[in-house]
Amino acid sequence: MNKLIAITGKGGVGKTTVSALLIKNLLASGVSPVLAIDADPNNCLDAALGVTVACTVGRAREDARSSAGANANISTRELLRLKIEQGLVEARGFDLIAMGRPEGEGCYCYANNILKDIIAEISSCYPYVVLDNEAGLENLSRRIVQKVDMLVLVSDSSNAGLQTLIRLFELAAEMKMSYGKLALVINRQRSDTLPGRINEIRAKTSADIVIGLPDDEEIAAFAEKNGNFLEISETNAVYQKIREII
Ligand SMILES: Nc1ncnc2c1ncn2[C@@H]1O[C@H](COP(=O)(O)OP(=O)(O)O)[C@@H](O)[C@H]1O
Ligand SMILES: [Mg+2]
Repeated sequence: MNKLIAITGKGGVGKTTVSALLIKNLLASGVSPVLAIDADPNNCLDAALGVTVACTVGRAREDARSSAGANANISTRELLRLKIEQGLVEARGFDLIAMGRPEGEGCYCYANNILKDIIAEISSCYPYVVLDNEAGLENLSRRIVQKVDMLVLVSDSSNAGLQTLIRLFELAAEMKMSYGKLALVINRQRSDTLPGRINEIRAKTSADIVIGLPDDEEIAAFAEKNGNFLEISETNAVYQKIREII
């Protein structure tokens, strides 16, 4: 059985950083290959992992939609699967697919349902799948999966950030998103102590894991040079702390 880990949270709180460092931890623990899915339309997980995506799933879906029926020997589903596989980036220890932009005008239910099937098929070939999402869960549940093994909600330690965290937790319930375990990650902490409200939030969400990650110089420096987070030092405190999620 493969394990799906989905990461979400407000924009800019560190979802991509956490995703990349989680993948680094999985690779270090000998799990391979990992499938990384960049489900944020402003995709940048590829850069954080030192690779470049040439064709997103959104593009593949548009291409498959516009050429559907043009070739009687291949179904839309097969065509889409083929295009998605062509867009898959293969790297050392992991593969990556980027979802790209959400759909435009028109009905995409059919295409999205096929898409979910195809992503499930591809995902089943990997022991671990890490999904880096945009803020919110709509895209995830509509286009990718409804059920994950672990949902990771990332926040900063501000009160507004924590409020969004609660909102995302409630949204998961509203969207009937099912998850095996829930992890709360409070990122970029300036002190060692978790925010005062965390016990209330832990109780409200029945979170399985709550971790705080420090605001880290090395990470900031890597981000400045658009660095590959897989190359961050083994002693990095954020990298080490994220291991608790695994
Ligand atoms: N623990 C941290 N310490 C220092 N900088 C961080 C940390 N986590 C994230 N950042 C920085 O914050 C910015 C936003 O992070 P990112 O992972 O891209 O957020 P998101 O994916 O949620 O939009 C990046 O410049 C990143 O390097
Ligand atoms: Mg991101």
